[in-house]
Amino acid sequence: MSAKDKLNLQQIPQHIAIIMDGNGRWAEQRGQERIFGHKHGVESVREAIEGAAEIGVKFLTLYAFSTENWNRPKDEIEGLMELMIDAINNEADNLNKNNVRLRIIGDTERLSERVKNKIKEAVDKLNNNSGLTLVVALSYSSRWEITETVKNIAIKVKNAEISIDEIDENLISESLKTNFMPDPELIIRTSAEKRLSNFLLWQASYSEFAFIETLWPDFTKETLFETINEFQNRERRFGKTGRQVQDDK
Ligand code: IPE
Ligand code: IPE
Ligand code: MG
Repeated sequence: MSAKDKLNLQQIPQHIAIIMDGNGRWAEQRGQERIFGHKHGVESVREAIEGAAEIGVKFLTLYAFSTENWNRPKDEIEGLMELMIDAINNEADNLNKNNVRLRIIGDTERLSERVKNKIKEAVDKLNNNSGLTLVVALSYSSRWEITETVKNIAIKVKNAEISIDEIDENLISESLKTNFMPDPELIIRTSAEKRLSNFLLWQASYSEFAFIETLWPDFTKETLFETINEFQNRERRFGKTGRQVQDDK
């Protein structure tokens, strides 16, 4: 029996976010260059998207490149950017057929013109789709996002568009780059590392975390379904007691 058959389809998370980690180690285990792992990671991206779409997930956010990843060796960064362009070229039609919408979050100004143009082309092409929204965090970090948001709110206060009293949690959420999506119920990180690495700090306030051992290039739909199964067996209490949660059901 596949892990998919065990899922409670009434309780599929609306938003799953994945920190795709372990490509370098996967390649090293095979005596290969790191980029070999990144290449294989593209297949896992396809698995994750297809799996999420199959079970009706609304938003899938993939952490593809962090602000801190700009500190990697130049040839690895260039290899990753080339892979990104190839992946968009190869996958755009398929995403379109599957009714997938694409959004990018991150400091895209730091990307090359070529990468920026390619992304824009793909976002425009998929813009009218209404199925799964694929969110790619690219040149993203949560502290960068929050800093930008604070600046934007400060400008509004300065221009007397809003008063300080109007600043509340909702206004902050609505002012973030991620304002088009709900907070992720589930954040998965592969490769057994147990940290957020500057990912969705605000949005993860009440997320469930799954730190799984699988290295990203080994991640399949089945891995996704197994992880969601485990998530569905948890009790999310949001500060209440277990008793209250049971009574509310
Ligand atoms: C994740 O794999 C991909 C990116 C961060 C771009 P890594 O490249 O971090 O792989 P490890 O962690 O070194 O194994
Ligand atoms: C986090 O992975 C960023 C992405 C998955 C894109 P890293 O492998 O760069 O994270 P750290 O530096 O080990 O925490
Ligand atoms: Mg890593």
